[in-house]
Amino acid sequence: MKPIKVGLLGIGTVGAGTFAVLKRNQEEIIRRAGRGIEIAVVADLDTARAKEITGGDIEVVSDAHLVVNRPDIDVVIELIGGYGIARELVMQAIANSKHVVTANKALLAKHGTEIFKAAEEQGVIVAFEAAVAGGIPIIKALREGLTANRIQWVAGIINGTTNFILSEMRDKGLDFATVLKEAQRLGYAEADPTFDIEGIDAAHKASIMSAIAFGTPVQFDKAYVEGITNLQAIDIRYAEQLGYRIKLLGITRRTAQGIELRVHPTLIPKNRLIANVEGAMNAVLVQGDAVGATLYYGKGAGAEPTASAVIADLVDIARLADADPVYRVPSLAYQTQSLADTPILPMSEIITSYYLRLRVSDQPGVLADITRILADASISIDAMLQKEPDEGETQTDIILLTHQTQEKNINAAIAAIEALNTVDGKVTRLRLEQLG
Ligand code: HSE
Repeated sequence: MKPIKVGLLGIGTVGAGTFAVLKRNQEEIIRRAGRGIEIAVVADLDTARAKEITGGDIEVVSDAHLVVNRPDIDVVIELIGGYGIARELVMQAIANSKHVVTANKALLAKHGTEIFKAAEEQGVIVAFEAAVAGGIPIIKALREGLTANRIQWVAGIINGTTNFILSEMRDKGLDFATVLKEAQRLGYAEADPTFDIEGIDAAHKASIMSAIAFGTPVQFDKAYVEGITNLQAIDIRYAEQLGYRIKLLGITRRTAQGIELRVHPTLIPKNRLIANVEGAMNAVLVQGDAVGATLYYGKGAGAEPTASAVIADLVDIARLADADPVYRVPSLAYQTQSLADTPILPMSEIITSYYLRLRVSDQPGVLADITRILADASISIDAMLQKEPDEGETQTDIILLTHQTQEKNINAAIAAIEALNTVDGKVTRLRLEQLG
C-alpha cells in the first residue's frame, strides 16, 4: 500500500517530537500501520527553524493554507493551538476531505460539535488522542477499551502545571504565588499561566472526556471551572493532617438528574493511588459498572509523550483511511444519532463532601452552634480538627469534613455559620471526593 501523506501544521515542541519519533520508530510504525506514514510538508511561520528540525529534506512553507489545500495530502496534523486560525484550517482541511489529527483541546472543547459534524458529513476522521492527558491513551480507553461499560464517573489530574504547583506547595509548605514564580522560572508554567492555573485547560479536557464517556455533545460552556489561585497553603496542611491531599481534579459524573462536569481543587484520601500522582504527571481514574475502577497514569505534556498520542492517531488513520466510515469508531464514541442531550447540572445541584475551615472565638458553645446549623441542614460531620489557640490569641481554627450533601445545602449552612457572632470572616470551603 502506498504511504499515507501527512501535512504538519506547526513544528513547535510537539511537532518536532512527532517528526523525531516518526523517523526513529519508522519500522515499528510501518509494521503496525501496514503502510508508511510520510510527512510531506510542514507549515510554520518560523521556516528557518522548521528546516533545521526537518533536516532540509522536507518541503517547508510559512502559509498553512497551502498545506490544507494541497490535493496530495491525506492527513493534516494541527499543532497550532487556540481557536482562531486553527479552527479555520481544520474546517478547511475537512472541507477538502482530509483526515485531521489535533492536539488542540481548546478548539475541540469550544467547537467540537461543529468540527465532528463537518467531519462526519465529509466522511473523514478527526482524531484527538493528544488533546487529553498528552501521552496517556485515555481517549482510546474511553472510546474503545471500555465500551462494554456504563461509565459512572471520570476524575483526572489532567493539568501538569497545577499538579506541579500543588506538589511543591505541599512538599515545601510554600504559598501559591511563590511556587508559581518558581514554576515559571523552571519552565513548568507558561509566562501567561492563566489557562492552567484558572482550571480552563483542565476543563477543556474534562469536557471532552465527559462527552465520550456519556455520549453527549462537548459542553465546555456548561462546565464549572475553579482554579488553584485562591488555594491557601494552610488548607493543604490541614488536609494532610486529616489524611487527604488536595489535587486539581477534572470530574464528570453521571447521575439520575444529569451530568456533573466540574474542575476545582479537591481533597482526596492520601492512600488512593491518584493522590500520589506528583509533579507534572497526569492520571485519570475511570469508574465503569462492569470493570470497576481503572487508572491511567503518565506524562500529560512534552514533546515525545504528546507525539506518542499524535502518531497513534496517525496509525489509526493509516489503517482506516480507506475503510467505509461506518466501520470507524465514532468521534464521540457513540453513534451520532444516539448522542443524548443529558443536561449538565448546575453546581448548586451537585452532590459531594466538603472541607470547611472556620476562624472562631475560643469560647463555650461555639462548636455547638456550628454543629446545630449543620444538623438542621441534615449535613453529617465526618471528621473534625480543632487547633489550640496560638499563644495570646483568643481565636482558633476549626476544620470540619462533612459527608455528602448537595452544594446548595452546604452553601446555605455556610451562610448561617458566617452570620454567627463567634465566627470571624468567611468560611473556606473545599470539595472532597472519596473516589472509592
Ligand atoms: N498546559 C498543560 C499542562 C499541558 O500543564 O498540563 C498541555 O495540555
